Amino acid sequence: MFEPIEQLKKQVEEALPAVQSPEQLEQFRVRFLGGSGELKKLMARLKEIPSAQKREFGKHANEAKAWVEGQFEGLKAKLGSPAAAGGQAGGAGPAGAIDVTEPGAAPRLGRAHIITQTIDELIEVFGRMGFDVATGPEVEDEWHNFVALNIPPEHPARDPLDNFYIDMPAGPAAPGIVAVQSAGAPAAAAAPQMHLLRSQTSTIQVRVMEKTRPPVRVVAMGRVYRPDEHDATHYSMFHQVEGLYVSRKVSMADLKTTLLQFAHAYFGPEAEVRLRPSFFPFTEPSAELDVKINLKGQWRWMELGGCGMVDPNVFEAVGYDSEKWTGFAFGLGIERLAMRKYDIQDIRWMFENDVRFLKQF
Ligand code: DAH
Repeated sequence: MFEPIEQLKKQVEEALPAVQSPEQLEQFRVRFLGGSGELKKLMARLKEIPSAQKREFGKHANEAKAWVEGQFEGLKAKLGSPAAAGGQAGGAGPAGAIDVTEPGAAPRLGRAHIITQTIDELIEVFGRMGFDVATGPEVEDEWHNFVALNIPPEHPARDPLDNFYIDMPAGPAAPGIVAVQSAGAPAAAAAPQMHLLRSQTSTIQVRVMEKTRPPVRVVAMGRVYRPDEHDATHYSMFHQVEGLYVSRKVSMADLKTTLLQFAHAYFGPEAEVRLRPSFFPFTEPSAELDVKINLKGQWRWMELGGCGMVDPNVFEAVGYDSEKWTGFAFGLGIERLAMRKYDIQDIRWMFENDVRFLKQF
């Protein structure tokens, strides 16, 4: 009755000496342990065995199976599995062994975005010149974005087509977003205010001066929003760095010196700066800032942003005595700074988050 079992054992014993390679071991496995291998066939015979002997037969068959599996495992430890042999060129070790001489997969490190890197550099450069860092909310009220900055209601900068106005529910402003009634803000108190995504970081000048007595020396970096069509030089969200210095007897010469020092620190000691007369409601006089930098061997003047001496009306709005205090301010585009420095042709690349672009910085 146990004859088929004995026969199988004999077949295995005869086959074993021929198994010398992982490939031959695989053939051995398929022949005896595979899905339609000899052991499966043996177990299938259980059906034909009279029920009185079924138990006995099953026991022997299982012992045989365990024995064949043991033989297979022993050979596998010696020869390695075919998969491992194919995968490891030049002498596979025993199955499952790790080749410690093989170089590991290098971990891919992330890095700070080019805008973040630029902001960090600006904080450091202006920090060396004694500027603290200030922040403000991205959702602003009209007082901080316009009124306190001497931008009257009829001014074109307040046009709904040029700003992202936001409907806010009536009642108290959401916590942390707005302080509607600012010190010295009678206009703000009179009419309910609209809110908007700030269009300039000059809002932070107002917020800092409302909270701090002069002298003041701060820079503020952050996002600003304008409904512009996206193209190589325009995006509906971008970043600005705002600077504000308020003290006694601050002059235009102080402004230009500060900007020159900044340009040297950021673009290199050969950079030059130039102020062109301009107009902003919150500075008087106002100027446009250009820097001359060397781009691929060519010296070129590039526009960086606006600046000027803080308008007395702005000081009055925040409760500073404009007879006593003077100051300068500037606002520069951060994308533009980075694009000039690294010769980046298209602002959209900065926000598409294509790793092939980002990993260059
Ligand atoms: N806020 C201006 C803008 O977004 C830039 C600017 C101009 C900022 C002059 C200033 C300044 O602080 O003094 O176009």
